[in-house]
Amino acid sequence: MEKLDLLYEGKAKKVFATDDPDALIVDYKDDATAFNGLKKGTIVGKGVINNRMTNHVFQLLEKEGVPTHFIQELSDRETLVKRVEIVPLEVIIRNVAAGSFSKRLGVPEGTLFEEPTIEFSYKNDDLGDPLINDYFARALNLATWEEIETIKKYAFKVNEVLKAYFLQAGIKLIDFKIEFGRFHGQIILADETSPDTCRLWDVNTNEKLDKDRFRRDLGNVEEAYNEVFSRLGL
Ligand code: TMP
Repeated sequence: MEKLDLLYEGKAKKVFATDDPDALIVDYKDDATAFNGLKKGTIVGKGVINNRMTNHVFQLLEKEGVPTHFIQELSDRETLVKRVEIVPLEVIIRNVAAGSFSKRLGVPEGTLFEEPTIEFSYKNDDLGDPLINDYFARALNLATWEEIETIKKYAFKVNEVLKAYFLQAGIKLIDFKIEFGRFHGQIILADETSPDTCRLWDVNTNEKLDKDRFRRDLGNVEEAYNEVFSRLGL
């Protein structure tokens, strides 16, 4: 497998073409941003952790019936993935109130929901990834109804699998963001699942073990990423 041209550089990853038109190489960086790129920094070792953790989680999800873009881990920071067309939706599942939910609706952080919620943001940096609903997604022609139903079904399945996976490591899955892509017409899970894209709290102390430590200047950012990595035995 040959690594060819850099196709795209995002906030946390670089994406390279390969000699296989159906495959890409993602290369995870230590760069961190928040608030649509307004806050910038480095989380040393994050790229390695996010690469390993995403690959582990995606293989677990495959076994549980959620198709993903994962093909093969190539190195500490590089993974071969299926080349998808990203559906421009950020799909967010919440089990416990936190972040923008708490702020928008005045619900204290840490309030447990009776049932998980799902929401969509339109992936558009110029607009600041605005919150939309499924009818807006149709109006913007971001996905078909059939695709939206598949995305919802997979997103709740991801939640069930990941809640149990983190709980056995003493971690509560508060919420997370995932993204999907189209591969030869099929919806599959893409992007990453890591402390950058999940809220993860210690089951006993509610200590934050995720990117909120960076967003909110709580300190011990690298320590939190390393803690999750070692608790998961990665
Ligand atoms: P929020 O409470 O700020 O809407 O975030 C919900 C979840 O989505 C949280 O786990 C963090 C994750 N997230 C991302 O992965 N990328 C983003 O750009 C944002 C805003 C949130």
